[in-house]
Amino acid sequence: MHTIVDKVQLTEGIFKMIIKAPHVAKSWKPGQFVVLMVNENGERIPLTIVDGNFYDGTISLIFQVVGKTTALLASKNVGEQIYSIAGPLGKPSEIKRYGKVALVGGGVGVAEILPQIRALKQVGNDVIAIIGARSLNKLILVEEVKSICNEVYVCTDDGSYGFKGFVSDALKKLIEEGREINYVYAVGPVPMMKAVSKVTRAHNIKTVVSANPIMIDGTGMCGVCRVIVGGEIKFACVDGPDFDAHLLDFDTLESRLKTYIKYEKKAFEDFTRCQCHV
Ligand SMILES: Cc1cc2nc3c(=O)[nH]c(=O)nc-3n(C[C@H](O)[C@H](O)[C@H](O)COP(=O)(O)OP(=O)(O)OC[C@H]3O[C@@H](n4cnc5c(N)ncnc54)[C@H](O)[C@@H]3O)c2cc1C
Ligand code: FES
Repeated sequence: MHTIVDKVQLTEGIFKMIIKAPHVAKSWKPGQFVVLMVNENGERIPLTIVDGNFYDGTISLIFQVVGKTTALLASKNVGEQIYSIAGPLGKPSEIKRYGKVALVGGGVGVAEILPQIRALKQVGNDVIAIIGARSLNKLILVEEVKSICNEVYVCTDDGSYGFKGFVSDALKKLIEEGREINYVYAVGPVPMMKAVSKVTRAHNIKTVVSANPIMIDGTGMCGVCRVIVGGEIKFACVDGPDFDAHLLDFDTLESRLKTYIKYEKKAFEDFTRCQCHV
């Protein structure tokens, strides 16, 4: 069991939780994730480790409510328990000195690039962040990102704040203006990561994305998280989640994410109706 020690709502439908998980806090690295079960009968969901504190044994998770399990997690409060947290899982991100790097985050993906921002900065890179959301009321962590990066570009699809347009458009603009960028790391919805990949492929800039397929065990046994990378099948939980964006088959990833949509919708509706917390 893992006690929730802090809970903050960052914006509509997005929460940050700090949870006791000493076994994860002592050994996690940027790019890794946990598989969490809110209660004994619940499903297992993967969430990125946004931060970890070796000394007090806590980890930070930031999640968006999109279905039953994330809604159930959001219903938990400080002092309550999470049934199980397995991790750290997945391969850590490759952190090295590239020179000028651009970190691109969309929606809750802004939280997921935070560990890479810190780590890439720490090893001496010049870090540009391009972060965005549909609208101002969906933007998260702007001040936090600004406090670490050399430069930050904030985008909203509807123009309610910052650059009007997608994060991939802002990245394209920077590259076309002649800015030197040696490495790009992007996390967000599949269409966003696909668009970023298209922009950087045209300029031959090494680009890595964090793939987000449905996962069950998170340890390479069930095969649910399979993705196609360079024509080969890979399991995102053990071979990733980071993959070369120019080799990842985004269309297959997107279509596999829709496999259970009918059941996910029904489970969320039932949960919202009864709030039975099971
Ligand atoms: C390695 C990894 C790290 C992740 N880290 C985070 C994180 O830090 N914060 C966060 O908010 N989310 C993260 N996700 C996504 C998160 O796991 C899903 O949103 C969650 O499993 C949804 O569970 P649910 O029961 O609430 O919704 P479901 O009922 O399972 O799904 C509801 C809707 O969300 C979509 N969905 C389901 N699973 C995923 C998924 N893996 N990625 C994108 N959409 C999905 C479904 O297609 C459906 O439309 C991560 C996923 C992976 C694979
Ligand atoms: S989640 Fe089961 S093999 Fe990856």
